[in-house]
Amino acid sequence: MDQPISPALTDAALLVRARAYAPYSKFQVGAAVLAADGEIFVGCNVENASYGLTICAERVAIGSAVAAGHKQIVAVAVATSGGHSPCGACRQVLSEFGPAMEVILIDIDDPAKTRTTTLAALLPEQFSSGAL
Ligand code: THU
Repeated sequence: MDQPISPALTDAALLVRARAYAPYSKFQVGAAVLAADGEIFVGCNVENASYGLTICAERVAIGSAVAAGHKQIVAVAVATSGGHSPCGACRQVLSEFGPAMEVILIDIDDPAKTRTTTLAALLPEQFSSGAL
């Protein structure tokens, strides 16, 4: 990908990662989504004693954007140790609000390894109702 990486978006993902509530997995995730008008919304993973109720960082960020009135997302940055990409469920939820969005994967251990891809590459033939 040739598109420039927005420092504001990656900084937001890195900052919010520190707020992750992950006492069970100890795996902190920070996500920041960029709305079409340039606003940024963040989310971190929120775990629960009933493990299956855990919410991923990406879905928290999408919820924040939608709750603020934004339904067009053009990019997401995800910060993890290792630069992991979003799980399948999050890919589908992200696709609802930006099937063509850019995906920036930040490795907090080695920011030089940060890479960019697209949601279309991560989730080909996503399910879509065409609602948006
Ligand atoms: N997690 C995310 O926040 N996003 C993903 O895309 C995959 C996994 C969280 C859930 C859980 O709190 C921890 O990472 C380990 O699975």
